Amino acid sequence: MAAEAALAIIGVIPGDGVGPEVVQQGLAVLREVAGIDNLKVDLVEFDLGGERYLKSGEVLPDHALDDLRKCDAIYLGAVGHPGVAPGILEKGILLRIRFAFHQYINLRPVKLFPGIETPIKGKGPEQIDMVVVRENNEDLYVGAGGFTYKGTPEEVAIQTSINTRAGVERCLRYAFELARSRAKNRVFPGLTDADRARGWTGQVTMVAKTNVLTFAHDLWMRAFTEVSLDFPEIKPDYNHVDACCMRMVVAPERYDVIATTNMFGDIITDLGAVLQGGMGLAASGNLNPDRTAPSMFEPVHGSAPDIAGQGIANPIAAILSLSMLLDHVGAPRGAEVVRKAVARVLAAGTPRTPDVGGQSTTAEVGRAVLHALEDIAHN
Ligand code: NAD
Ligand code: IPM
Ligand code: MN
Repeated sequence: MAAEAALAIIGVIPGDGVGPEVVQQGLAVLREVAGIDNLKVDLVEFDLGGERYLKSGEVLPDHALDDLRKCDAIYLGAVGHPGVAPGILEKGILLRIRFAFHQYINLRPVKLFPGIETPIKGKGPEQIDMVVVRENNEDLYVGAGGFTYKGTPEEVAIQTSINTRAGVERCLRYAFELARSRAKNRVFPGLTDADRARGWTGQVTMVAKTNVLTFAHDLWMRAFTEVSLDFPEIKPDYNHVDACCMRMVVAPERYDVIATTNMFGDIITDLGAVLQGGMGLAASGNLNPDRTAPSMFEPVHGSAPDIAGQGIANPIAAILSLSMLLDHVGAPRGAEVVRKAVARVLAAGTPRTPDVGGQSTTAEVGRAVLHALEDIAHN
Protein backbone atom coordinates (compact mmCIF):
# COMPACT_ATOMS: atom_id res chain seq x y z
CA MET A 1 0.00 0.00 0.00
CA ALA A 2 1.40 3.39 -0.93
CA ALA A 3 2.13 5.75 1.96
CA GLU A 4 -0.30 8.61 2.22
CA ALA A 5 0.98 11.73 0.51
CA ALA A 6 2.30 14.45 2.81
CA LEU A 7 1.00 17.93 2.09
CA ALA A 8 3.32 20.87 1.86
CA ILE A 9 2.23 24.46 1.40
CA ILE A 10 4.90 26.36 -0.50
CA GLY A 11 4.80 30.15 -0.62
CA VAL A 12 6.24 31.38 -3.91
CA ILE A 13 7.75 34.85 -4.37
CA PRO A 14 8.90 35.14 -8.01
CA GLY A 15 10.02 38.75 -7.38
CA ASP A 16 11.91 40.90 -9.89
CA GLY A 17 14.04 40.62 -13.03
CA VAL A 18 15.14 37.08 -13.74
CA GLY A 19 13.43 35.91 -10.52
CA PRO A 20 10.14 34.91 -12.19
CA GLU A 21 12.01 33.38 -15.15
CA VAL A 22 14.04 30.97 -13.01
CA VAL A 23 11.26 30.28 -10.49
CA GLN A 24 9.00 29.13 -13.33
CA GLN A 25 11.54 26.41 -14.18
CA GLY A 26 11.93 25.47 -10.53
CA LEU A 27 8.16 25.05 -10.16
CA ALA A 28 7.96 22.83 -13.24
CA VAL A 29 10.58 20.61 -11.60
CA LEU A 30 8.64 20.66 -8.33
CA ARG A 31 5.44 19.52 -10.05
CA GLU A 32 7.30 16.70 -11.75
CA VAL A 33 9.14 15.53 -8.67
CA ALA A 34 6.29 15.71 -6.14
CA GLY A 35 5.07 12.28 -7.21
CA ILE A 36 8.42 10.64 -6.46
CA ASP A 37 8.24 11.32 -2.74
CA ASN A 38 4.47 11.22 -2.56
CA LEU A 39 4.36 14.89 -1.71
CA LYS A 40 1.20 16.88 -2.35
CA VAL A 41 2.15 20.45 -3.01
CA ASP A 42 -0.05 23.46 -2.57
CA LEU A 43 1.50 26.56 -4.15
CA VAL A 44 0.56 30.02 -2.86
CA GLU A 45 1.94 32.84 -4.98
CA PHE A 46 2.84 36.21 -3.47
CA ASP A 47 2.97 39.24 -5.71
CA LEU A 48 5.86 41.12 -4.09
CA GLY A 49 8.67 43.13 -5.65
CA GLY A 50 9.46 46.25 -7.60
CA GLU A 51 6.39 46.34 -9.85
CA ARG A 52 3.98 46.09 -6.94
CA TYR A 53 5.90 48.73 -5.00
CA LEU A 54 5.90 51.15 -7.93
CA LYS A 55 2.14 50.66 -8.46
CA SER A 56 0.92 50.66 -4.86
CA GLY A 57 3.74 51.78 -2.58
CA GLU A 58 3.48 48.42 -0.79
CA VAL A 59 6.66 46.47 -0.07
CA LEU A 60 5.59 43.61 2.21
CA PRO A 61 2.24 44.24 3.87
CA ASP A 62 1.79 42.68 7.34
CA HIS A 63 -1.02 40.45 6.11
CA ALA A 64 1.28 38.99 3.45
CA LEU A 65 3.88 38.24 6.13
CA ASP A 66 1.14 36.53 8.17
CA ASP A 67 0.16 34.43 5.15
CA LEU A 68 3.80 33.54 4.46
CA ARG A 69 4.11 32.35 8.05
CA LYS A 70 1.44 29.71 7.37
CA CYS A 71 3.56 28.07 4.65
CA ASP A 72 5.83 25.07 5.20
CA ALA A 73 8.55 26.72 3.13
CA ILE A 74 9.10 29.72 0.87
CA TYR A 75 10.61 29.66 -2.60
CA LEU A 76 11.98 33.02 -3.77
CA GLY A 77 13.45 34.13 -7.10
CA ALA A 78 15.13 37.48 -6.45
CA VAL A 79 14.23 41.03 -5.54
CA GLY A 80 15.80 44.29 -6.73
CA HIS A 81 14.49 46.67 -9.38
CA PRO A 82 16.36 49.34 -11.36
CA GLY A 83 13.46 51.76 -10.81
CA VAL A 84 13.48 51.43 -7.02
CA ALA A 85 16.11 52.93 -4.70
CA PRO A 86 18.58 50.33 -3.39
CA GLY A 87 17.59 48.74 -0.10
CA ILE A 88 13.84 49.31 -0.19
CA LEU A 89 12.99 45.90 -1.60
CA GLU A 90 16.09 44.08 -0.35
CA LYS A 91 15.53 45.18 3.25
CA GLY A 92 11.75 45.39 3.05
CA ILE A 93 11.18 41.91 1.63
CA LEU A 94 14.23 39.67 1.83
CA LEU A 95 15.79 40.82 5.09
CA ARG A 96 12.39 41.31 6.73
CA ILE A 97 11.49 37.68 6.04
CA ARG A 98 14.91 36.37 7.11
CA PHE A 99 14.60 38.22 10.43
CA ALA A 100 10.87 37.84 11.12
CA PHE A 101 11.03 34.07 10.58
CA HIS A 102 14.27 33.61 12.57
CA GLN A 103 16.04 32.15 9.56
CA TYR A 104 19.33 32.41 11.39
CA ILE A 105 21.34 30.11 9.12
CA ASN A 106 22.07 30.96 5.52
CA LEU A 107 23.30 27.69 4.07
CA ARG A 108 25.30 28.11 0.86
CA PRO A 109 26.90 25.02 -0.68
CA VAL A 110 29.86 25.64 -3.00
CA LYS A 111 30.07 22.53 -5.11
CA LEU A 112 31.55 22.17 -8.56
CA PHE A 113 29.58 19.72 -10.70
CA PRO A 114 31.45 17.49 -13.17
CA GLY A 115 31.28 19.04 -16.64
CA ILE A 116 31.30 22.62 -15.38
CA GLU A 117 34.50 24.56 -15.74
CA THR A 118 35.82 26.54 -12.82
CA PRO A 119 38.01 29.56 -13.61
CA ILE A 120 40.48 28.25 -11.02
CA LYS A 121 43.33 26.56 -12.87
CA GLY A 122 43.96 22.93 -12.03
CA LYS A 123 40.93 22.50 -9.78
CA GLY A 124 37.98 20.18 -10.31
CA PRO A 125 34.97 18.73 -8.46
CA GLU A 126 37.29 16.89 -6.03
CA GLN A 127 38.77 20.17 -4.85
CA ILE A 128 35.66 22.34 -4.79
CA ASP A 129 33.13 20.97 -2.35
CA MET A 130 32.48 23.11 0.72
CA VAL A 131 29.51 24.63 2.50
CA VAL A 132 29.33 28.17 3.86
CA VAL A 133 27.24 28.57 7.02
CA ARG A 134 26.49 32.27 7.01
CA GLU A 135 25.03 33.77 10.18
CA ASN A 136 21.81 35.35 8.91
CA ASN A 137 20.14 37.39 11.68
CA GLU A 138 22.83 39.66 13.13
CA ASP A 139 25.89 41.76 12.29
CA LEU A 140 25.63 44.81 10.04
CA TYR A 141 22.37 43.49 8.62
CA VAL A 142 20.35 44.32 11.74
CA GLY A 143 19.91 47.89 10.54
CA ALA A 144 21.16 49.48 13.77
CA GLY A 145 22.36 53.01 13.13
CA GLY A 146 21.37 56.31 11.64
CA PHE A 147 22.43 59.72 10.42
CA THR A 148 22.97 63.03 12.07
CA TYR A 149 23.24 66.24 10.03
CA LYS A 150 22.29 64.24 6.94
CA GLY A 151 23.16 65.98 3.71
CA THR A 152 25.48 68.51 5.34
CA PRO A 153 29.29 68.61 5.43
CA GLU A 154 29.09 67.63 9.13
CA GLU A 155 27.13 64.48 8.34
CA VAL A 156 27.71 61.40 10.48
CA ALA A 157 26.51 57.94 9.47
CA ILE A 158 26.67 55.02 11.87
CA GLN A 159 25.86 51.40 11.07
CA THR A 160 26.60 48.99 13.87
CA SER A 161 27.49 45.32 13.77
CA ILE A 162 25.43 43.46 16.38
CA ASN A 163 26.81 40.13 17.63
CA THR A 164 25.11 38.24 20.44
CA ARG A 165 26.65 35.30 22.23
CA ALA A 166 23.49 33.22 21.72
CA GLY A 167 23.23 34.14 18.05
CA VAL A 168 26.86 33.36 17.33
CA GLU A 169 26.82 30.13 19.27
CA ARG A 170 23.78 28.65 17.52
CA CYS A 171 25.39 29.42 14.16
CA LEU A 172 28.69 27.78 15.12
CA ARG A 173 26.92 24.76 16.59
CA TYR A 174 25.02 24.33 13.32
CA ALA A 175 28.31 24.43 11.41
CA PHE A 176 29.90 21.74 13.59
CA GLU A 177 26.83 19.50 13.32
CA LEU A 178 26.99 19.92 9.56
CA ALA A 179 30.70 19.00 9.44
CA ARG A 180 29.89 15.90 11.50
CA SER A 181 27.16 14.79 9.13
CA ARG A 182 29.26 15.52 6.01
CA ALA A 183 32.07 13.34 7.37
CA LYS A 184 29.71 10.36 7.32
CA ASN A 185 29.49 10.36 3.52
CA ARG A 186 32.73 11.87 2.37
CA VAL A 187 36.48 11.85 2.92
CA PHE A 188 37.51 15.49 3.28
CA PRO A 189 40.78 15.93 1.33
CA GLY A 190 41.95 18.90 3.40
CA LEU A 191 43.07 16.78 6.36
CA THR A 192 46.65 15.52 6.71
CA ASP A 193 47.58 12.05 7.94
CA ALA A 194 48.54 13.65 11.23
CA ASP A 195 45.07 15.24 11.45
CA ARG A 196 43.44 11.86 10.86
CA ALA A 197 45.68 10.24 13.45
CA ARG A 198 44.24 12.74 15.95
CA GLY A 199 40.80 11.45 15.12
CA TRP A 200 39.65 14.38 12.99
CA THR A 201 37.25 13.50 10.18
CA GLY A 202 35.96 16.92 9.14
CA GLN A 203 36.67 20.60 9.62
CA VAL A 204 34.97 23.87 10.47
CA THR A 205 36.85 27.00 9.46
CA MET A 206 35.65 30.10 11.23
CA VAL A 207 36.15 33.12 8.99
CA ALA A 208 36.28 36.50 10.72
CA LYS A 209 38.64 39.41 11.37
CA THR A 210 39.85 38.89 14.94
CA ASN A 211 42.92 41.05 14.32
CA VAL A 212 40.81 44.19 13.85
CA LEU A 213 37.32 43.56 15.21
CA THR A 214 38.73 42.85 18.64
CA PHE A 215 35.36 43.02 20.42
CA ALA A 216 32.84 41.40 18.11
CA HIS A 217 35.15 38.74 16.74
CA ASP A 218 36.71 38.09 20.10
CA LEU A 219 33.21 36.97 21.12
CA TRP A 220 33.08 34.82 17.98
CA MET A 221 36.46 33.23 18.76
CA ARG A 222 35.60 32.43 22.38
CA ALA A 223 32.29 30.88 21.31
CA PHE A 224 34.11 28.92 18.58
CA THR A 225 36.68 27.51 20.99
CA GLU A 226 34.00 26.45 23.46
CA VAL A 227 31.63 24.91 20.92
CA SER A 228 34.49 23.01 19.26
CA LEU A 229 35.06 21.09 22.52
CA ASP A 230 31.72 19.33 21.96
CA PHE A 231 32.93 18.08 18.56
CA PRO A 232 36.30 16.41 19.20
CA GLU A 233 36.31 14.68 15.79
CA ILE A 234 36.00 17.98 13.90
CA LYS A 235 39.12 20.07 13.35
CA PRO A 236 38.62 23.68 14.44
CA ASP A 237 40.31 25.96 11.93
CA TYR A 238 40.43 29.75 11.64
CA ASN A 239 41.09 32.18 8.76
CA HIS A 240 40.93 35.94 8.61
CA VAL A 241 38.45 36.88 5.89
CA ASP A 242 41.05 38.50 3.62
CA ALA A 243 43.23 35.39 3.71
CA CYS A 244 40.13 33.26 3.16
CA CYS A 245 39.43 35.07 -0.15
CA MET A 246 42.95 34.25 -1.27
CA ARG A 247 42.82 30.65 -0.10
CA MET A 248 39.40 29.92 -1.61
CA VAL A 249 41.03 30.65 -4.96
CA VAL A 250 44.43 28.98 -4.54
CA ALA A 251 43.46 26.03 -2.35
CA PRO A 252 39.68 25.50 -2.24
CA GLU A 253 40.24 21.87 -1.23
CA ARG A 254 41.26 23.10 2.21
CA TYR A 255 37.66 24.01 3.07
CA ASP A 256 34.96 21.69 4.32
CA VAL A 257 32.51 23.84 6.33
CA ILE A 258 33.05 27.59 6.68
CA ALA A 259 31.22 29.42 9.48
CA THR A 260 31.13 33.18 9.17
CA THR A 261 29.37 36.44 9.86
CA ASN A 262 26.45 37.79 7.87
CA MET A 263 28.45 40.45 5.99
CA PHE A 264 31.52 38.33 5.27
CA GLY A 265 29.28 35.41 4.31
CA ASP A 266 27.53 37.57 1.73
CA ILE A 267 30.83 38.52 0.14
CA ILE A 268 32.63 35.19 0.15
CA THR A 269 29.62 33.34 -1.29
CA ASP A 270 29.70 35.38 -4.49
CA LEU A 271 33.34 34.30 -4.70
CA GLY A 272 32.18 30.77 -3.93
CA ALA A 273 29.62 31.03 -6.73
CA VAL A 274 32.42 31.81 -9.17
CA LEU A 275 34.42 28.77 -8.00
CA GLN A 276 31.44 26.56 -8.81
CA GLY A 277 30.92 28.01 -12.28
CA GLY A 278 29.10 31.28 -11.71
CA MET A 279 26.09 33.00 -10.18
CA GLY A 280 23.78 30.89 -12.32
CA LEU A 281 24.68 27.77 -10.33
CA ALA A 282 24.79 28.84 -6.67
CA ALA A 283 21.90 27.78 -4.40
CA SER A 284 20.96 28.72 -0.86
CA GLY A 285 18.60 28.13 2.01
CA ASN A 286 17.66 30.60 4.74
CA LEU A 287 16.96 28.15 7.53
CA ASN A 288 15.00 28.33 10.73
CA PRO A 289 16.45 25.12 12.19
CA ASP A 290 14.02 25.24 15.13
CA ARG A 291 11.10 25.18 12.68
CA THR A 292 9.19 27.87 14.56
CA ALA A 293 8.53 29.59 11.20
CA PRO A 294 9.10 28.69 7.55
CA SER A 295 12.53 28.56 5.95
CA MET A 296 13.16 30.24 2.60
CA PHE A 297 15.06 28.91 -0.40
CA GLU A 298 16.52 31.10 -3.15
CA PRO A 299 19.38 31.31 -5.59
CA VAL A 300 22.38 33.30 -4.33
CA HIS A 301 22.10 35.61 -7.33
CA GLY A 302 19.97 38.72 -7.61
CA SER A 303 17.47 39.96 -10.17
CA ALA A 304 20.21 40.33 -12.84
CA PRO A 305 18.65 43.36 -14.57
CA ASP A 306 21.35 43.21 -17.28
CA ILE A 307 19.87 39.97 -18.69
CA ALA A 308 16.28 40.10 -17.43
CA GLY A 309 13.52 39.59 -20.00
CA GLN A 310 15.81 37.86 -22.51
CA GLY A 311 14.99 34.30 -21.44
CA ILE A 312 18.65 33.42 -20.99
CA ALA A 313 19.05 33.35 -17.20
CA ASN A 314 20.50 30.10 -15.91
CA PRO A 315 17.74 28.29 -13.95
CA ILE A 316 20.11 25.79 -12.28
CA ALA A 317 20.72 27.88 -9.13
CA ALA A 318 16.96 28.13 -8.61
CA ILE A 319 16.46 24.41 -9.32
CA LEU A 320 19.21 23.44 -6.86
CA SER A 321 17.62 25.76 -4.28
CA LEU A 322 14.41 23.84 -4.84
CA SER A 323 16.23 20.59 -4.05
CA MET A 324 17.29 22.14 -0.73
CA LEU A 325 13.64 23.04 -0.12
CA LEU A 326 12.59 19.45 -0.79
CA ASP A 327 15.11 18.18 1.76
CA HIS A 328 13.73 20.64 4.27
CA VAL A 329 10.07 19.67 3.83
CA GLY A 330 10.91 15.99 4.27
CA ALA A 331 11.15 14.90 0.65
CA PRO A 332 14.79 13.69 0.52
CA ARG A 333 14.28 11.26 -2.34
CA GLY A 334 12.81 14.00 -4.50
CA ALA A 335 15.70 16.28 -3.51
CA GLU A 336 18.24 13.65 -4.50
CA VAL A 337 16.58 12.99 -7.85
CA VAL A 338 16.63 16.71 -8.65
CA ARG A 339 20.35 16.89 -7.88
CA LYS A 340 20.99 13.83 -10.03
CA ALA A 341 18.99 15.31 -12.91
CA VAL A 342 20.93 18.59 -12.66
CA ALA A 343 24.23 16.67 -12.53
CA ARG A 344 23.27 14.74 -15.66
CA VAL A 345 22.35 17.85 -17.63
CA LEU A 346 25.53 19.65 -16.59
CA ALA A 347 27.71 16.63 -17.40
CA ALA A 348 26.12 16.37 -20.86
CA GLY A 349 27.42 19.85 -21.70
CA THR A 350 24.26 20.88 -23.47
CA PRO A 351 21.84 22.61 -23.28
CA ARG A 352 23.54 25.44 -21.48
CA THR A 353 22.76 29.11 -20.97
CA PRO A 354 25.33 31.74 -22.10
CA ASP A 355 26.77 32.32 -18.59
CA VAL A 356 28.19 28.78 -18.68
CA GLY A 357 29.32 28.92 -22.28
CA GLY A 358 26.19 27.80 -24.14
CA GLN A 359 23.55 29.36 -26.36
CA SER A 360 20.42 27.83 -24.91
CA THR A 361 17.50 29.49 -23.19
CA THR A 362 16.26 29.26 -19.62
CA ALA A 363 13.33 27.14 -20.80
CA GLU A 364 15.52 24.73 -22.78
CA VAL A 365 17.68 24.04 -19.74
CA GLY A 366 14.58 23.65 -17.56
CA ARG A 367 13.12 21.15 -20.04
CA ALA A 368 16.37 19.16 -20.13
CA VAL A 369 16.27 18.85 -16.33
CA LEU A 370 12.65 17.66 -16.56
CA HIS A 371 13.55 15.01 -19.13
CA ALA A 372 16.50 13.82 -17.03
CA LEU A 373 14.16 13.65 -14.03
CA GLU A 374 11.62 11.52 -15.85
CA ASP A 375 14.36 9.24 -17.06
CA ILE A 376 15.97 8.83 -13.63
CA ALA A 377 12.63 8.33 -11.88
CA HIS A 378 11.44 5.61 -14.27
CA ASN A 379 14.66 3.61 -14.58
P1 NAD B 1 23.10 39.78 -9.61
O1 NAD B 1 23.38 38.50 -8.90
O2 NAD B 1 21.70 40.06 -9.93
O3 NAD B 1 23.95 39.82 -10.97
C1 NAD B 1 25.39 39.74 -10.99
C2 NAD B 1 25.84 39.19 -12.36
O4 NAD B 1 25.53 37.80 -12.42
C3 NAD B 1 25.14 39.84 -13.54
O5 NAD B 1 26.06 39.99 -14.60
C4 NAD B 1 24.08 38.84 -13.91
O6 NAD B 1 23.72 38.85 -15.27
C5 NAD B 1 24.72 37.51 -13.54
N1 NAD B 1 23.69 36.54 -13.15
C6 NAD B 1 22.96 36.57 -12.00
N2 NAD B 1 22.08 35.56 -12.01
C7 NAD B 1 22.25 34.89 -13.17
C8 NAD B 1 21.62 33.74 -13.75
N3 NAD B 1 20.64 33.07 -13.13
N4 NAD B 1 22.05 33.33 -14.97
C9 NAD B 1 23.02 33.97 -15.59
N5 NAD B 1 23.66 35.05 -15.10
C10 NAD B 1 23.27 35.51 -13.89
O7 NAD B 1 23.75 40.94 -8.71
P2 NAD B 1 23.65 42.55 -8.86
O8 NAD B 1 23.70 42.92 -10.29
O9 NAD B 1 24.63 43.07 -7.92
O10 NAD B 1 22.22 42.91 -8.28
C11 NAD B 1 21.05 43.14 -9.07
C12 NAD B 1 19.88 43.40 -8.15
O11 NAD B 1 19.54 42.23 -7.41
C13 NAD B 1 20.13 44.48 -7.09
O12 NAD B 1 18.94 45.20 -6.94
C14 NAD B 1 20.45 43.69 -5.84
O13 NAD B 1 20.14 44.39 -4.65
C15 NAD B 1 19.54 42.49 -6.01
N6 NAD B 1 19.97 41.28 -5.32
C16 NAD B 1 18.98 40.48 -4.84
C17 NAD B 1 19.29 39.26 -4.28
C18 NAD B 1 18.20 38.39 -3.81
O14 NAD B 1 17.04 38.66 -4.07
N7 NAD B 1 18.48 37.32 -3.12
C19 NAD B 1 20.63 38.84 -4.25
C20 NAD B 1 21.62 39.66 -4.76
C21 NAD B 1 21.27 40.88 -5.32
C1 IPM C 1 22.25 37.80 -0.93
C2 IPM C 1 21.97 39.23 -1.28
C3 IPM C 1 21.31 39.94 -0.12
C4 IPM C 1 22.27 39.92 1.06
C5 IPM C 1 20.85 41.38 -0.41
C6 IPM C 1 20.05 41.49 -1.66
C7 IPM C 1 20.08 41.93 0.77
O1 IPM C 1 23.14 39.87 -1.68
O2 IPM C 1 21.29 37.07 -0.63
O3 IPM C 1 23.40 37.38 -0.97
O4 IPM C 1 23.12 40.80 1.19
O5 IPM C 1 22.14 39.00 1.87
MN1 MN D 1 24.85 38.55 -1.87
